[in-house]
Amino acid sequence: MFEHAQTSVIPVAGLGTRLLPLTRGIPKELLPLGRLPVLQHVVDEMSEVGVTSQVLVTSQRKTAIRQYVESAEESHGNAFQFVDQSHQKGLGHAVLCAREMVANKPFFVALGDAVIKRDAEQESLCERMRRLCVAENADAAIAFHQVPLSRVSRYGVAKPQPGFKAGDTFFLLSDLIEKPPQELAPSRYAIAARYLCKPDLFSYLQKTTPGSGGEIQLTDALQAWLKDGAKILGVPLTASEKRFDIGNFESYYAAALEYALADQEFGPALAEQFGVKN
Ligand code: UTP
Repeated sequence: MFEHAQTSVIPVAGLGTRLLPLTRGIPKELLPLGRLPVLQHVVDEMSEVGVTSQVLVTSQRKTAIRQYVESAEESHGNAFQFVDQSHQKGLGHAVLCAREMVANKPFFVALGDAVIKRDAEQESLCERMRRLCVAENADAAIAFHQVPLSRVSRYGVAKPQPGFKAGDTFFLLSDLIEKPPQELAPSRYAIAARYLCKPDLFSYLQKTTPGSGGEIQLTDALQAWLKDGAKILGVPLTASEKRFDIGNFESYYAAALEYALADQEFGPALAEQFGVKN
C-alpha cells in the first residue's frame, strides 16, 4: 500500500501568532529560507519522494499562499488542490479537512512551517519512512528528532517500545504524549513535522475531541489509533538531517542563517563577514 503513497497533506492555515507582527502581512509558510519560501522547500521535498498530488489546507486569511502556489505550479509539474480550514481548530482538524481529497490512499503529512535539511546524497527522510512502512507492514510512520529535556514540553513526544537503542533506524511506538512536562516525558524524541499514514487515521481524527490548547491534536488521534493496536514506527532523523521549525523567531533565525550560509554564491563571503565556520 505505501509503495503507492503519492499524496501529501500540507497544513498551512495556522494563525502564526508566535511570529507576530511579521505574520500580519506574510504567512509564515512564505518566509524566505535561502532563495525559496519555506513552503517551496516542503513541496519540493514531497515531489522528490514521488508525491504528485499535494493537498494544501489553507485559510481565507492567507490568500498569498494560493497565489504563490498557482503562479509557481506550471514550473514544478505538481497537481495542487486547496481545501479551506474555516476555523483554526488545530493540526488534527487541518488534516481532517483534507479527508475527501486524500480518499482511501496512504498519504504523507508535512507541516508547512517546517523543513528537513539533509545531505543530498542520502536517502531522504520520507523515502526512509516509506521503505520502513513497507518492510515492517506498518500502519504509519512518524519522524522524530532528539531535543534537550528542557524543550520536550513544546512537542509531541515518543515512548518507544523497549529494546530500542540509539542508532537503530526505527523504533516501534508504544505511546505518544502531547507537550509533556519535563518530568513526565517518556523520551527526548520529539515529533519532527513529517508523518506517513494509512487513511484509517481519518476515522480517529473524526473522533478526537479538543485536547491541549483547546485544539484537535493530531497526536491525540495517533495515540487513540495506537491504543487500538496500530503498528506505528518512529523514524529518528540521522546525524546529517536537521529539522527547522519556522514557527518561532528563535528557530526561524537559525533556519534563515543556515540557508543563507549554504548559498553557493554568497554563503562563503557571509560566513567570513560574520566569522562563522562554514
Ligand atoms: P502550528 O501550531 O505551529 O501553527 O502548526 P500556528 O497555529 O500557526 O502557530 P501559532 O501558535 O499561532 O504561532 C504547524 C502547522 O500546521 C498548520 C500551520 O499553518 C503550520 O504550518 N496549522 C496549524 C493549520 O493548518 N491549522 C491549524 O488549525 C493549526
